Amino acid sequence: MKRNMHTIDGRRLWQSIEEMARIGALPHGGSRRLALSEEDREARELFASWCRDAGCEMHVDQFGNQFGVRRGSAHDEPLVMFGSHLDTQPNGGRFDGIYGVLAGLEVMRTLHAAGLQTKRSLAVVNWTNEEGVRFSPGLTGSKGFAGLLSPQDVAALRSSDGAAFRDELQRLGYLGSPTPFKVANYFEAHIEQGPVLEAAQLAVGVVTGVQGVRWFEVQVTGADRHAGTTPMSMRADSFMASCRIAMSLRAAALAISADIRLTVGRVAVQPGSINTVPGQTHFTIDLRHPDSAVLDRVEGLIFELSASEAKAEGCEIAVKKVFDLPPVAFEEGTVNRVAEAVRKNDLPTMCIVSGAMHDACALATVAPAAMIFTACRLGISHSEDEFAEPDDLAAGCQVLLDAVVAAANLA
Ligand code: HGY
Ligand code: MN
Ligand code: MN
Repeated sequence: MKRNMHTIDGRRLWQSIEEMARIGALPHGGSRRLALSEEDREARELFASWCRDAGCEMHVDQFGNQFGVRRGSAHDEPLVMFGSHLDTQPNGGRFDGIYGVLAGLEVMRTLHAAGLQTKRSLAVVNWTNEEGVRFSPGLTGSKGFAGLLSPQDVAALRSSDGAAFRDELQRLGYLGSPTPFKVANYFEAHIEQGPVLEAAQLAVGVVTGVQGVRWFEVQVTGADRHAGTTPMSMRADSFMASCRIAMSLRAAALAISADIRLTVGRVAVQPGSINTVPGQTHFTIDLRHPDSAVLDRVEGLIFELSASEAKAEGCEIAVKKVFDLPPVAFEEGTVNRVAEAVRKNDLPTMCIVSGAMHDACALATVAPAAMIFTACRLGISHSEDEFAEPDDLAAGCQVLLDAVVAAANLA
């Protein structure tokens, strides 16, 4: 990589990732920091202290989003924003989201050390509840900031353990107030969470868009019955009906498109007794594809097949769509700014569409946005086995700095 006017410190970035990973550390190297948990609070405090040390002013908005702001000479102009999320999956890795926040911090540290002031102000952001694990759906903070969720919607959010989102923000001391920030450009650095860059032996990728995401909650109602005395033909077994739905959905969706992604990630069976036929099964569906028309067709199948398979098992069904993120095409000028920054660092690269959703999807509805991907080992993510090479992360961070500085010094 060519030496740059302002070169980020890859070792400092790696050390910060390692230190952050110690908060909510899991036995196999991952982290668990569910949104608005004690671990999330600890991570937020650490991030805020690092931002202050890097000369940033800290702001928190009504969704708990944390902004570290570095004033530019034209502070009243729309600012250049970059960041990601510090909350994790239950068995999360050390890089998903965290890399994008700490790469943004490294940009601030580098500019602070160089005493460099940009025209536009800069803001590094930690978005609240990107993962949508404890509070569903995800992208809560970034969608709130982008006006895609009202403060009332967000305040009413209930966690899987019954807590109210707003109460949790208050309890943690992160219930802030609306910020005046207008965004000129948004950038997000993130590990790819897929195998493409590593297979192509590339450190960084220029992300041109994100595939669409839809989440569904399915409630199957049968009848609690004795596991020993009830003949198989006389059961309304909600779990067996759920299995039929999942398997027939997968076959039908793949027949529509081999690129479909369909996941049943959470299943709850009631009453959960070894010797009772379960009367209630609740499960979730995560559906993804780059083409809305394909998503529409598979969504229709979800409702259709759920009804027919449940009926075949003598069960009732209720299907509810709880999240719908249309496919995103990032703004060409901002994508080109990332590509220019990659070229400036003499890095080979490729354009790539993201299989995972990101806060950039929400920001892209209010500002020209783009993303920078870095390779990760075997494309593994949402797992403690997630890993990325320090040099690849440093390369992505340098691209982020160059893209941000170019965007912030635009006349
Ligand atoms: O679900 C996603 O794609 C993101 O990693 N939270
Ligand atoms: Mn992420
Ligand atoms: Mn994730």
